[in-house]
Amino acid sequence: MYFKGKKMHVVPKAEGHEHFGHGQEIKDELAKRFPQTAKRILDVGTGFGSNLIFLKHLYGKPTLMWSIDPSQDTLANAERLLKEKGLSEGVTLLKGNAEKMPFDDGFFDLITSVMVLHHTVDVPASFREMYRVLEKGGTLIIADWKPEAHTLPFKDHHHEKDFVSATKTEQIFRGLAEDVKLSEWPLWYLLKVRK
Ligand SMILES: C[S@@+](CC[C@H](N)C(=O)[O-])C[C@H]1O[C@@H](n2cnc3c(N)ncnc32)[C@H](O)[C@@H]1O
Repeated sequence: MYFKGKKMHVVPKAEGHEHFGHGQEIKDELAKRFPQTAKRILDVGTGFGSNLIFLKHLYGKPTLMWSIDPSQDTLANAERLLKEKGLSEGVTLLKGNAEKMPFDDGFFDLITSVMVLHHTVDVPASFREMYRVLEKGGTLIIADWKPEAHTLPFKDHHHEKDFVSATKTEQIFRGLAEDVKLSEWPLWYLLKVRK
């Protein structure tokens, strides 16, 4: 797993951890905002694979999915989990960064990124790149922890200063896209962007 460009030592866990990947409350809020159908989905920041597995259960076989992460260990763990669950068909896992992705403009109709933004080196560049590869009319859903979440049992580098506040992220996104909706909870926030 990478954190602000540096490798951090986290043993990838199976899904189900509320604070690693994401828990049920976050899944429910994401599901309310996802479109009913999607042809090509990109999940940015594969991590523990929780969101990828969640998407795969929701959208099933006809939808093609890609997920990128700079960490080879993380990708290998996600690949193993998907195979164990019989969910690997139609999923492409790629080593890469949100800031510069190997996809054509407008390739995806749904892009998600869950609890990843605070790991990236450059939040505006990550957002610009996600927006670039989103098709016109497509949906981008980003969820991340707020600085207040540093009280959660995160390990290693997660200090208050390492998170970007919901309002700051919203401000960055509003400067780059027209249709941005922010929803907030005490420890996390969600941004839904339509292109
Ligand atoms: C907390 S995990 C994400 C959880 C994951 N979305 C899930 O559903 O299980 C954060 C992930 O972001 C990845 N990451 C770090 N820097 C990144 C970057 N610049 N672009 C994309 N992913 C990055 C890390 O390697 C790590 O696997």
